Amino acid sequence: MVTVEGDADRKLVGHLLPTGIDRPTTGRLRAFVAETLPDYMVPNLVRFHDVFPATPNGKLDRDALISTEEPPAEPEAVAVVDDVVAEIAGIFAELLETPEVKPDDDLWDLGATSFTMVRASAAIQQRHGRRIPVSVLLAQPTVAGIAADLGVAPAVPKSIEPDRESAEPPVGVDFFSATERAAFKAARHDLRVAGADESIVHLGAVPADVAERAARASRREFPRQPVELSELAALLAGAAEHVDSQGPPRRYPSAGDTYAVRIYLRVRSGGVTGLDGGLYYYHPLDHALHRVSRRDVIDPGLHFGYNRPLAGQAAFELYLFGRANAITPLYGDDAQRFLALEAGYLGQVLMQAQTDTAIGLCPIGSVNIEAIRTECGLDAGDPFLQAFVAGGIDRAGDEAPTGAAVCGVAGRFPDADNPRRLWRNLSSGVRSLRPVSDARRAQVGGDHPGGFLSDVDTFDPLLFHISPMEAARLDPQVRLLLTVVWECLEDAAHTAAELNGDGRVGVFLGTMWQDHRLVAAQSDAGEEIAAMSSTGSQAANRISHFFGFTGPSIAVDTSCASSLTALHLAVESIRDGECDAAVVAAANLFLHPHHLRELVDSGLLAERLPEGAFDPDVVGWVPGEGWRPSCCVASTPP
Ligand SMILES: Cc1cc2nc3c(=O)[nH]c(=O)nc-3n(C[C@H](O)[C@H](O)[C@H](O)COP(=O)(O)O)c2cc1C
Repeated sequence: MVTVEGDADRKLVGHLLPTGIDRPTTGRLRAFVAETLPDYMVPNLVRFHDVFPATPNGKLDRDALISTEEPPAEPEAVAVVDDVVAEIAGIFAELLETPEVKPDDDLWDLGATSFTMVRASAAIQQRHGRRIPVSVLLAQPTVAGIAADLGVAPAVPKSIEPDRESAEPPVGVDFFSATERAAFKAARHDLRVAGADESIVHLGAVPADVAERAARASRREFPRQPVELSELAALLAGAAEHVDSQGPPRRYPSAGDTYAVRIYLRVRSGGVTGLDGGLYYYHPLDHALHRVSRRDVIDPGLHFGYNRPLAGQAAFELYLFGRANAITPLYGDDAQRFLALEAGYLGQVLMQAQTDTAIGLCPIGSVNIEAIRTECGLDAGDPFLQAFVAGGIDRAGDEAPTGAAVCGVAGRFPDADNPRRLWRNLSSGVRSLRPVSDARRAQVGGDHPGGFLSDVDTFDPLLFHISPMEAARLDPQVRLLLTVVWECLEDAAHTAAELNGDGRVGVFLGTMWQDHRLVAAQSDAGEEIAAMSSTGSQAANRISHFFGFTGPSIAVDTSCASSLTALHLAVESIRDGECDAAVVAAANLFLHPHHLRELVDSGLLAERLPEGAFDPDVVGWVPGEGWRPSCCVASTPP
């Protein structure tokens, strides 16, 4: 398996030698691999070869393997039925780098990621004034489904002017754009804004309730399989009906005691110890499971793309259906709403039972449910209300972990030499996005606006015991990292010697771009000795070396998540006792024109500067530099 290079939407490619006459589809292969491998190891794309290319000494020739990949589709090569279908198929074929996307191919199965959807949605909006709605990708995640939706749905108008009270919510939000979603949520359309003449009564401090909230929170990782039957029984006991007349019949209310919400379970074979796989109905009076069908497959394909990895690791799924004829004769048109309310109460009881049973649940709002409804023997009028994906959780993992404290922070950002200045800039609305300064233009390349530091070369080499000659060749990222780590220790009011005296100090560095290597390659060309070097590990190790830190010294690259990953690893390392304190640092500089060019050519950057944060009309991001929180983290007693 290799990752496709030169594409910001990196994809995992599976290379196969087919042995039979029938080549399995990408979808089937992905589903097969997903049964045993975690989601991140399931290839997005599959390439077939007649023979694997070999190097002269018989090893796999990876370069040749990649270069023999099928070329991206030419739009006119796509087999299509009408213009819109052809157009959308062409968009996806190009994004998925596949020669052909058939109208009914499942796009998630073909390897689409959320990034693919963002780009496709943007392309479709540009041409048709309409985005891809989420509902389409659940019901029919295909080119035909998207085209059908475009055919019937009117274009979404632009958002309306804000009214007196609060900003009017936009008519549509692009679900696939994390920025748009975040901006929409941040606008807090759920909250009513008080009128100027309304009196407000404050109700005092709210209890923290941390344990209560954590107890019912959605779980999306199920490290412990299988689940014990006794645990499942305890979970379902929350929905059982009692006939002891010592209290209300159930733990949740129902309109007129109709209790018309039914629970069905799909149990994967081996998912619950002592229970055969299959589809079950839970009988609340008998507290018993009735096996309705032997079908034991939890089909991720029935789920929305984002939920498929979750369904893939579930031990069982729960489905709540309303039994219409057990309530409609009494309540008529209100019955549907009452059923939804009852399902909400029941769902809360189930989620509240998570910590007692060590079963984790994730509520799922939409599932492609028709086949399951039929299998349950329910009617079309019996509404599907809620599903839950479930699996075993680790109770020990819920215990409060050992604490860690951030005790010093330093950083360099555009227009801000330290985090306090950055905070002041943010609070007072300073904009630091502008075309690159003359001094940096050669390094950054072009005039693309962004958040660039004005100066990245200044350095006090002798302070760090580095000769001026070496310093001139040293990666500016390393120069600034050393300086900023020094400032971080000052901010933490610790000296390196003092920290070292208390135990081992780790260094965890998040770094993705190593532009200085490109500078080095150019500058060293033709020289006898390659004098420059720049690797992430070197940066981390230089920090450790200079400050005398003897804990782990690690550079980590997880793209945009690198600095948070470094922080996470530092805290874990402290908890595991590998070190007693840690410096976490991250750097991102534009030091060679290739960096910016790569981003521009991948279509990732916004074509113009946004009006402000979360500007919904600007697609793409704005380049920015900085030494993000260089933190000093020290362990605290549990
Ligand atoms: C109606 C409804 C539908 C939901 N659908 C999904 C879903 O499809 N996938 C998912 O991961 N979580 C889903 N959730 C869970 C919410 O995303 C989750 O409750 C929310 O993010 C708050 O997180 P918490 O439950 O951990 O507090 C759903 C929750 C509700 C109430």
